[in-house]
Amino acid sequence: MATTNRQILLKSRPAAAPTAANFELVETPVPEPRDGEVLLRTLYLSLDPYMRGRMSAGPSYAAPAEVGQPMVGGTVSEVAASRHPGFAKGDIVSSYVGWQDYAVSNGAGLTKLDPKMVKPISLALGLLGMPGMTAYAGLMEIGQPKPGETVVVSAASGAVGSVVGQLAKLKGCRAVGVAGGPEKCKFVVDTLGFDACVDHKGDNLRERIAEACPKGIDVYFENVGGATQRALWPLLNNFSRVAVCGMIASYNDPAPQPGPDLRTVLVKRMTVRGFIVTELWPKYPNAFGELADWYHQGKIKYREDVVEGLEKAPEAFLGLLQGKNFGKLAVKVG
Ligand SMILES: NC(=O)c1ccc[n+]([C@@H]2O[C@H](COP(=O)([O-])OP(=O)(O)OC[C@H]3O[C@@H](n4cnc5c(N)ncnc54)[C@H](OP(=O)(O)O)[C@@H]3O)[C@@H](O)[C@H]2O)c1
Repeated sequence: MATTNRQILLKSRPAAAPTAANFELVETPVPEPRDGEVLLRTLYLSLDPYMRGRMSAGPSYAAPAEVGQPMVGGTVSEVAASRHPGFAKGDIVSSYVGWQDYAVSNGAGLTKLDPKMVKPISLALGLLGMPGMTAYAGLMEIGQPKPGETVVVSAASGAVGSVVGQLAKLKGCRAVGVAGGPEKCKFVVDTLGFDACVDHKGDNLRERIAEACPKGIDVYFENVGGATQRALWPLLNNFSRVAVCGMIASYNDPAPQPGPDLRTVLVKRMTVRGFIVTELWPKYPNAFGELADWYHQGKIKYREDVVEGLEKAPEAFLGLLQGKNFGKLAVKVG
């Protein structure tokens, strides 16, 4: 058993775009579990856009990460030692122990995973975890897709967007993605099966999205905001639904950008509603079963971008904020 625990701490809060200097790798002794506790060994660490928000101290729906503490994050862990009656050595659990090799837990918030159903086990951080539920719940609850409608999703090759478009197809919709670069767009169409994908890095974005959506847009699953949102906003149909999921284009902005044209929301009687996945999660108890079945039947493809080694986490996370990840980003730790 290792005796050293590598931890990546939040060293300082970024004023704008974060850099590697905001993180610090330290080594501490592996902690000892006491009665009622387990020692967890991290197998996979999830890296997600929301972590950028946790690096800042401003008001949000969740408390910020603490400076000097390991960065927060979802994990898949193996129980390395147990003094807890509910867990045995070797159990695999979903956990939230952040950017470190080892952590002690009293069991709160741990969910045992069945490696036969969650296979590969890293899917617990993607399709069969928070991003998959975000896609499922946000699309079904707010998008309410109906056969024949056009569903557009931004960040379409990523952890959430890749599932949104495939679910839209399973619901009989036209699925159109917006993604960064020809390689991602090709993947979205050829592998994921979307009807079209528009590269947001080219010119005339609005015209190209309009071409891909000849009947306008009925559902927009908003993952990015910024230029993509401004380009497609006028293409939204009467009674369209906008699932406001994320605004990654503005996560590094020190001050809010001028907002979208909310008058359009009024005139076209659109529904725009933000959501937090943890609040909708309980409403969809069958979601992971359906997602797992569709995955194993090949009806859903799911791309993972797995980086080897905890020490790579800062670099990989910073890359995610620049679009360098291709699929659900995770770190193989143990
Ligand atoms: N509301 C909720 O409960 C909830 C839950 C989970 C995730 N989210 C949000 O959902 C969105 C997608 O998350 P994810 O986990 O699926 O991430 P992801 O798509 O796997 O990775 C992020 C992607 O965002 C795009 N991006 C990054 N910086 C950008 C910029 N400045 N402008 C435009 N696009 C940019 C890049 O894709 P391209 O290269 O294709 O542009 C990048 O690959 C995020 O906004 C996230 O905050 C919300």
